[in-house]
Amino acid sequence: MNKECVFITGATGFIGSHIAEKLIEQNIYNIVAIVREDVNYKNTEQLKTKEVILVKGEFHNKKTVLDIFEKFPIAYVIHCAALRGTGAGLQHLYEQVNVKGTQILLEASLEHRIKRFIFCSSVGVLGTIPQKVPADIDTVLAPDNDYHNSKAKAEQTVQEFVKKGLDAVIIRPTITYGKNDNGFSSILIKLIRRRMLVLPSHDTKIHLLDVEKLAEVFSFFLSADIKKSNVFVIADKQSIILSRLADLIYFNFYKKKYPRMLKIPDICFSVANLIFKFIKNEKWSVRMQLLSKDWYYLPTQPDSGNNFEFSDTEKKFTAYLEAITDEK
Ligand SMILES: NC(=O)c1ccc[n+]([C@@H]2O[C@H](COP(=O)([O-])OP(=O)(O)OC[C@H]3O[C@@H](n4cnc5c(N)ncnc54)[C@H](OP(=O)(O)O)[C@@H]3O)[C@@H](O)[C@H]2O)c1
Repeated sequence: MNKECVFITGATGFIGSHIAEKLIEQNIYNIVAIVREDVNYKNTEQLKTKEVILVKGEFHNKKTVLDIFEKFPIAYVIHCAALRGTGAGLQHLYEQVNVKGTQILLEASLEHRIKRFIFCSSVGVLGTIPQKVPADIDTVLAPDNDYHNSKAKAEQTVQEFVKKGLDAVIIRPTITYGKNDNGFSSILIKLIRRRMLVLPSHDTKIHLLDVEKLAEVFSFFLSADIKKSNVFVIADKQSIILSRLADLIYFNFYKKKYPRMLKIPDICFSVANLIFKFIKNEKWSVRMQLLSKDWYYLPTQPDSGNNFEFSDTEKKFTAYLEAITDEK
């Protein structure tokens, strides 16, 4: 029997590469991936060695996308590519890449009557720090920077296409960790390893996500029955206290706990946050908030009778740390 075709965007990125890896391993689908010419050459070369059909181009170029849909019998779309992060003053780029790009993919998907569109959003649509914790799918959207805004707008566009008849699922992952991570967790590891991270004096509760579990979630939702909401908040089984995570990381390298003297009053984080906001350094302003406030979620279970065993952060993060230490 012919395999159905999954079209994936962002397969050269951290999360997308794990999803592509998962689908390759399952060997159920043909995979078509769009990659930018020469941008992430190393990752593209890696995909080339696998059974992935690579198409060069920008996913937010209408003609390129229409050509792909004409050429391949796309049955599913996993839309993972995005301009990510929190750079200030890039509003037009977020709009063009994250919002318009999503719309172009949605239009082609509706026109070609694909079976399902899966959009990788972010818990950032609830704000860097959600208005209530634990946050869940009923928590009000409160995007607080250009990146989060673009994700919220893209979600809204997805829902407009659902009304037009497209079958679509929105996945909202929390901050994700694992092999090839290039975001918050990898910065955390670097800072803790160099004893450069000062912790807030109170126990901040944070909630991360194992990238391998997230890849499983995407693969599951290609065929899962969705009866109620099409929006899913995805996170590990439980939150973790930041100082406990610091201990895990430090122990991995030095076999002892993270020095307790590296703690400062919470007010220092609020002041630092204001300073970073003032000098328009959104990246560090967000980091100050993530380090000093609680952000945790109620992961959504699918309503198709198939419950996920979400990952245990302590176990999976330790395994991730051991793997990166072995690599060095
Ligand atoms: N990482 C997290 O903790 C996290 C948490 C929540 C949600 N998310 C969401 O998960 C998705 C994947 O994130 P990630 O962590 O894997 O990010 P990533 O490593 O930065 O990968 C982003 C992907 O999008 C592509 N991309 C970026 N800018 C582009 C542009 N201007 N034009 C075309 N393609 C572009 C990249 O292509 P190149 O390789 O060519 O640069 C790459 O394949 C995103 O939608 C993000 O919003 C991530």
